[in-house]
Amino acid sequence: MKQFIQDVIKINDFQPVRLLTILREVQAEFRFISKQAIEIIADELNIERTQIISVVEFYSFLHLEPRGQYDILFSDSITDHMLGKQSLMDYMSKQLNVAIGQTREDGLVSLDNTACTGLCDQGPAALINGVAIPQLNQQKIDTIIDLINKKQPVSAWPNTIFAIADNILKSNLLLKTEIVHGEAIKATFDRGLTETLEEINASGLRGRGGAGFSTAMKWKFCSEENETERYVICNADEGEPGTFKDRVLLNRYAHQVFEGMTVCAAIIGSKQGFLYLRGEYYYLYQQLQQVLEQRRQQGLLGKDILEQGFDFDIEIRLGAGAYICGEESALIESLEGKRGIPRNRPPYPVTQGYLNKPTIVNNVETFLAAANIVANGANLFAKLGTKKSSGTKILSISGDCAAPGIYEYPFGTSISQILTDCGANDVLGVQVGGPSGTFISNQELERKLAFEDLPTGGSFIIFNQSRNILDVVKNFSHFFADESCGFCTPCRVGTSLLKKQLDKIVDGHGSAGDVIALDEICQLVKNNSHCGLGQTAANPVLSTLQRYPELYQNQLKDIGYEPGFDLDASLETARRLANRDDAAAHLAQTEE
Ligand SMILES: Cc1cc2nc3c(=O)[nH]c(=O)nc-3n(C[C@H](O)[C@H](O)[C@H](O)COP(=O)(O)O)c2cc1C
Ligand code: SF4
Repeated sequence: MKQFIQDVIKINDFQPVRLLTILREVQAEFRFISKQAIEIIADELNIERTQIISVVEFYSFLHLEPRGQYDILFSDSITDHMLGKQSLMDYMSKQLNVAIGQTREDGLVSLDNTACTGLCDQGPAALINGVAIPQLNQQKIDTIIDLINKKQPVSAWPNTIFAIADNILKSNLLLKTEIVHGEAIKATFDRGLTETLEEINASGLRGRGGAGFSTAMKWKFCSEENETERYVICNADEGEPGTFKDRVLLNRYAHQVFEGMTVCAAIIGSKQGFLYLRGEYYYLYQQLQQVLEQRRQQGLLGKDILEQGFDFDIEIRLGAGAYICGEESALIESLEGKRGIPRNRPPYPVTQGYLNKPTIVNNVETFLAAANIVANGANLFAKLGTKKSSGTKILSISGDCAAPGIYEYPFGTSISQILTDCGANDVLGVQVGGPSGTFISNQELERKLAFEDLPTGGSFIIFNQSRNILDVVKNFSHFFADESCGFCTPCRVGTSLLKKQLDKIVDGHGSAGDVIALDEICQLVKNNSHCGLGQTAANPVLSTLQRYPELYQNQLKDIGYEPGFDLDASLETARRLANRDDAAAHLAQTEE
């Protein structure tokens, strides 16, 4: 063990910032991070043992106790449930004689849930020893059980088990026009760095990761910082349930994404970039390394790029199962080998990011679009979309529709148009932007895809009339409670209370007072949390309470609550009477 760990640490240049990478390797080799492993890592990296333990405890793919030789994690996204995940998991649990959440006594197999694996267009999905498996069905599960019983190593399993489709079903500007390798970098130097930034500004490009901040502004602020060291980070954490477009972009358009990062580096004056790839996309890791190597061979990465005296390279770092690491400052902490706890902002990463140096963090799609704009000019992009939302948006469409997959639309397209294209009938509602986004009912389908109406990082989950919306909300609330990083009390305690309170109501044990309390917890979590996770965790409850109060009310009738009870009015009263200090005190008390 000692030799293996020392070798891994040596390959990682004895750098504590690579702690997560080192721990991932140790976990993969020994199936857990033992006390002995912690001692060795601490000595070699010259860091505290407690720091290592806290990092291991933070990431869901790292463990202090041994996992099974076959570590099976079923994706727990709502779309996996809609496709029959639970019965397949129960079947597997029975056949392999392992309880869900446990490791079998002989250590052969562990079975558990994990958050959305980014395969909602081809679920139910699972990870086995970290490798993604789509489209589970009875036959596939039987094959897997057989392979496990025969103790066949996962690396020797048939490739067909792991085959993942791109499912690009509608292309517009970005997906149709892939640029020639090096075209955007060449255009950057031909045009000039300032002029290229102006071109991006003229395109109106806004970040595709969710918040929609102007990309040109961000790059400009970063380039103006009085520092010599700067960093470029591509955020490929893609953890929002229902989002999987970055998976496809990295599989099909990786060159262009890296090209966008390189253009950014030239403009801001950076020598080092990172692709932060979510652990669930581990299966893309090797091929992405090959793309980087090819680009080095082509003179598009490394020293003296295109003989312009410009040096820049990109390193891929894998995450380890933590949704919060998609939040840019948590991502930076993670890249520094720490727990993914969001920083206080300001200062923003553009002034103090990786190693406290000016840093750009952009979404995969943002870099892809930037490369297109620089190569083909701002006009093509700017003439699409709306005044405040130029260009196109790439959507990950899943749920109740005939053709789930990747669709690219100009901003301003109506939701009803999108639903028609993907073959969605009898629609009850759509979750736009994932659990942290907005739920819209079938009365709102003329609303538009746009930052000024319905913004989204790309998740678009459709529900038909056969679905129970409260089950959906329950799934989302469990997700947030599981993924809260635990740093601040309103989110740590609030998301957990919210989950319990909702379960109580949905399971038919709630009173009207419980619904009012639920609404109060929502307000508290939303208004007092430290970062975007907590601030949006109550969205699923709040948006459905507003649109479908009768669904909540119906659950109360079962326990004989007064038939004439007016939930809307009671909630309104409760809101007026709400005293946040009292609620905060109540939460603090509960926590004690
Ligand atoms: C809880 C949380 C998770 C996030 N996850 C992602 C993610 O997976 N990918 C992403 O690009 N942005 C994510 N973001 C937004 C990032 O913090 C950041 O705004 C974004 O990467 C900036 O890139 P952009 O300007 O290109 O949109 C997340 C934000 C929060 C609060
Ligand atoms: S809001 Fe939640 S996720 Fe964000 S810092 Fe607080 S506990 Fe962590």
